[in-house]
Amino acid sequence: MRRLPRPRRPPALRGNSSLRDANPHNLIAAILDGLPEHDLPGSERMQDMPGFGQQLDDAQVAELANWLRARYGGRDEPVLADRVHALRSATPESEHR
Ligand code: HEM
Repeated sequence: MRRLPRPRRPPALRGNSSLRDANPHNLIAAILDGLPEHDLPGSERMQDMPGFGQQLDDAQVAELANWLRARYGGRDEPVLADRVHALRSATPESEHR
């Protein structure tokens, strides 16, 4: 019997390495900038993730990161809005506020 292709869906957030990481850099960058489309093993391609740097301010990104880290990453050290601000400022080529 012919095997059907797997559905294109994002990986689970629970246990995701960016959420478990003590360093929130990658998580903040994913929320601000999104993630590019990329190949998966086999013939599948993962769609891209849009960035939310234009819609969310520093405090909102920090609050979202804190909730995601606590809920899915088992991390309770808070991400501060200052950290989000610093990362935004460090990427002047992007269109972040
Ligand atoms: C504010 C809303 C969102 C948050 C907080 C969020 C958060 C995340 C996080 C933490 C990851 C894992 C990043 C990593 O592995 O380093 C992720 C991956 C992903 N997200 Fe989102 N996401 C959001 C909205 C969306 C939306 C609207 C879409 C699709 C339209 C989307 C599509 C994806 C995809 C396809 C991946 C996997 C990309 C990859 O593995 O490279 N996300 N997201």
